[in-house]
Amino acid sequence: MIDAVLHPHRPHVRLTRLALENFRNYPMLQLRLDGRHVCLHGANGSGKTNLMEAVSMLSPGRGLRGAEFGDLVRRDADGAVAKGWALSADVREGDFDRRVTLALDVDDQGRSKRIARLDGANTAQADLGELMRIIWLTPAMDRVFAGPAGDRRRFLDRQVMAHFPSHGTFGAAYDKAMRQRNALLERGRADPAWLDALELGMASAGAAMALHRVDAVRTMQESILARPEGAFPKALIDLDGQFETGVANGAALTDIEQDIADQLRESRARDVAAGRATRGVHRTDLRVIHAAKSMPADQCSTGEQKALLIGLILANAQALFERDFAPSPLLLLDEAAAHLDSDRRAALYDELAALGGQAWLTGTDRSLFDAFGDRAQRFEVSGGAVLES
Ligand SMILES: Nc1ncnc2c1ncn2[C@@H]1O[C@H](COP(=O)(O)OP(=O)(O)O)[C@@H](O)[C@H]1O
Ligand SMILES: [Mg+2]
Repeated sequence: MIDAVLHPHRPHVRLTRLALENFRNYPMLQLRLDGRHVCLHGANGSGKTNLMEAVSMLSPGRGLRGAEFGDLVRRDADGAVAKGWALSADVREGDFDRRVTLALDVDDQGRSKRIARLDGANTAQADLGELMRIIWLTPAMDRVFAGPAGDRRRFLDRQVMAHFPSHGTFGAAYDKAMRQRNALLERGRADPAWLDALELGMASAGAAMALHRVDAVRTMQESILARPEGAFPKALIDLDGQFETGVANGAALTDIEQDIADQLRESRARDVAAGRATRGVHRTDLRVIHAAKSMPADQCSTGEQKALLIGLILANAQALFERDFAPSPLLLLDEAAAHLDSDRRAALYDELAALGGQAWLTGTDRSLFDAFGDRAQRFEVSGGAVLES
């Protein structure tokens, strides 16, 4: 804490070692990293995204594929499933080294147990946000502006979680209470006191979520506007949600909470008919506009959307680096380089180098990363092996 007071901006976080056992297509892997950015090249299906996914599991939540612990267990070619998996990483922040272990243990009866340790002591994966913040860009996000609102909200909430790790916990509590409320309403003749309790749960988690979203989006927007004009266009971002609007207009947290609870109670009959909650923070959307063209992002070209998205992620990374008392972010950019022309690629690497910290990038060809020069460490991924190249 004394250190934090002296250094509101904490030193950059980097991985210096990553070890995997029976994780996806990796029977056994030991990777030593020298602290520079990390470029992974290899053929399709060689295991690049699996490696990024392993890193992404070092943050609260389900990683970049939204996987459960059980999905990560290695299956061999004849479909045999390994008994659990393990991931161990050394995380360096300034002069401090921390060791994180995550594992799924499966006993002889097939019962599985999730394990998370920090420096040998039990911890919760949800608490790893105090150690590092991780944000990512994957090819699956290419349609995020034009796709359904739910995808955009998940994208938004992932960015928000990097600012406020507890956002994910609130989100899970909100979703759980909402599912229980939906089930009760569906059954009919629900106990009103029980419904009240669930709606209060949704209201208190939802108000916190609205607050987090407004703060993070405001911080991201400031960071976007502070960016120099360059290879990646600036976005105007805005939350489309009545409770976030309330927060932005200065309403107190308790008033937002009350408002959510009141609206849920009043909409019970309608929600029975609709089969879902028609009010709440699960209806919020993120509006994105290409600033220079005043064009909604979903109407921009595919290439423009990708460039906007990269700009957003870089701006959020910058915002996270500047966030007081918080660990600096790690960036995972899966297949981001391949679709950029060589000037934009070089601009991306220059920006990453200027940001500092550690970014992980993937691509099929080693030459994609040439413009990184000696600012990155390169590895070839092939058939479950990863070799410096
Ligand atoms: N649980 C698993 N066990 C073994 N192999 C897996 C598992 N999950 C995915 N794979 C395989 O890992 C391989 C590499 O996937 P991926 O990392 O996505 O490749 P890429 O290098 O193209 O990003 C794929 O062939 C996929 O079928
Ligand atoms: Mg991949």
